[in-house]
Amino acid sequence: MKPLLIAGNWKSNKTVHEAMAWIEEFRDLSVEIRENKTVIICPPFTALAPMKQEIEKLSLPITLGAQDVSPFPLGSYTGEVAASQLKELAEWVIIGHSERRKYLGETDALLARKAHEARDAGLKIIFCVPDEKTPVPDGVDAVAYEPVWAIGTGKAEDPKAANSIIEAIKRKFSIPIGIYGGSVTPENVATFVSQPAIDGVLPGGASLKADIFASLITHAHA
Ligand code: PGA
Repeated sequence: MKPLLIAGNWKSNKTVHEAMAWIEEFRDLSVEIRENKTVIICPPFTALAPMKQEIEKLSLPITLGAQDVSPFPLGSYTGEVAASQLKELAEWVIIGHSERRKYLGETDALLARKAHEARDAGLKIIFCVPDEKTPVPDGVDAVAYEPVWAIGTGKAEDPKAANSIIEAIKRKFSIPIGIYGGSVTPENVATFVSQPAIDGVLPGGASLKADIFASLITHAHA
């Protein structure tokens, strides 16, 4: 069984109260998570601390990730959350999601600085790219191939096509882990993770409901 990374990206969804309700529901589902699977939830910043506390209290096999990180160290950068602050709460961070590239105008140069900060603080990085041409900074732990047209549309990439693009990106930038994101569901997850170069998935919409996410984890077999 190859190792699999399953990272749920909640985006700008859920209040702390709703995040806590998700945790309770996920716990009640008692989903069996095989040893080869690393399950990550990336909630909004506001929910990281209370979720960490609850996950530890309930001993849930979930790791936390942030959805973004500051390109600056600690200091006078109003509104930013520095990598060392995140490291207290999360093990992973998503950098370069296409929504941040699109709505916040994040450039490759800015994303490289974010990756540098994250790496220095010891965070593990999931770096998102929309294609095989987009640069990936050094020291990234996992690359997520997310074609823009497949995000939130219900139209996922063809698994074989995703496999060849992920294989090319992993080879080009020497990245050990390549995952796919874009309309991943419990129904199609196995078609992706069974591809030889695909080491996991980054579901958005399918991570928002605990029962659907649990089903996605169960159906993720290579
Ligand atoms: P989606 O989002 O699963 O809702 O398509 C994926 C993502 O944007 O990471």
